[in-house]
Amino acid sequence: MTMKIIGTGSALPEKVATNFDMAEIVETSDEWIRERTGIVERHISTEDTVSTLAAKAAFKALEDAGKSAEEIELIIVATCSPEMELPCCACQVQSIIGASNATAFDLNAACSGFLFGLSTAYGYMCAGVYKNALVIGSEVLSKIIDWTDRSTCVLFGDGAGAAVVEMQEGEDPGMLGIAQGADGTKGMVLSCPDRVLNNPYVKNPIEPGYVQMDGQEVYKFATRQVPNCIQKALENAKLTVDDIDLFVLHQANIRIIEAVAKRLKADLSKFPTNLARVGNMSSATIPVLLDELNKEGKIKRGDKIVLSGFGAGLTYGACVLVW
Ligand code: UT7
Repeated sequence: MTMKIIGTGSALPEKVATNFDMAEIVETSDEWIRERTGIVERHISTEDTVSTLAAKAAFKALEDAGKSAEEIELIIVATCSPEMELPCCACQVQSIIGASNATAFDLNAACSGFLFGLSTAYGYMCAGVYKNALVIGSEVLSKIIDWTDRSTCVLFGDGAGAAVVEMQEGEDPGMLGIAQGADGTKGMVLSCPDRVLNNPYVKNPIEPGYVQMDGQEVYKFATRQVPNCIQKALENAKLTVDDIDLFVLHQANIRIIEAVAKRLKADLSKFPTNLARVGNMSSATIPVLLDELNKEGKIKRGDKIVLSGFGAGLTYGACVLVW
């Protein structure tokens, strides 16, 4: 018995904002953004919410998997930018797609969220609770970004990616190894305040919170922790770097991806990227890239793939699976 990804889907808002568009909003340049990050453009939502994007990605993943919404037993939406405190996004997705037999809940592990969702689904399935799940990463980060802060607003984009996973009988390998971690002591290097204390006993002016980031600290954390975490997941899977066909990493910065490849002594051609077109979509980056690779036929059955993410929390994770 093992868990396989049997279908993927993704959804991006129509509006595309280029680096040149960014230069009209804040004091920046196409050259600076390209050189420091590798990002050229990103999608910004003018209509879609986290739930509607998630549902669009979910519909496509279901179609790809050949499953009906009623067959889905569990929906996990990883997001750090839901439009509602209540109800959770996963329940809204359940309602939109008509997955009337599914349990649904959200999970927030920021940019590691899709991976944490995948491993949560895996845990449920190994325990025999559910046979399948829809795991989604969806973000509308454009509403929690400070559009006057050039050091953050140029980095992020909106979008959603989804995967249908299923527990399958037989010898065909699927999920082989997982490694995850968190370091809450460094949480404030990438943060976004939400509601502060406000009740009959405490009065606070309620300020909207925006993403604040110490980019260099996150950069150092990512380039150190991601290779370690991938190595640990590979050890758990009893594989080495050379066994891997593709490394699908969180798409935050091309320099981070290059540094990770170098530390792992892996060929950079095994690290596909799409961040030039979509920017950093937090929990959505890995499933959107996975869907693009799947639909373009760049992943073959039997390929060994590493997925790895890192982000606010600070959180990090990696898994090794056979397609
Ligand atoms: O999902 C996880 C999300 N976060 C990350 O992955 C972030 C990881 N960190 C990074 O990717 C990089 O640290 C950044 C791309 C965010 C920044 O690159 P950097 O090479 O670390 O630049 P810096 O913060 O050291 O800033 C260098 C200069 C500063 O000017 P001064 O002080 O040298 O005069 C900044 O004010 O660049 C300036 N700067 C900009 N200039 C033009 C910062 N943002 C911009 C901008 N355009 N958008």
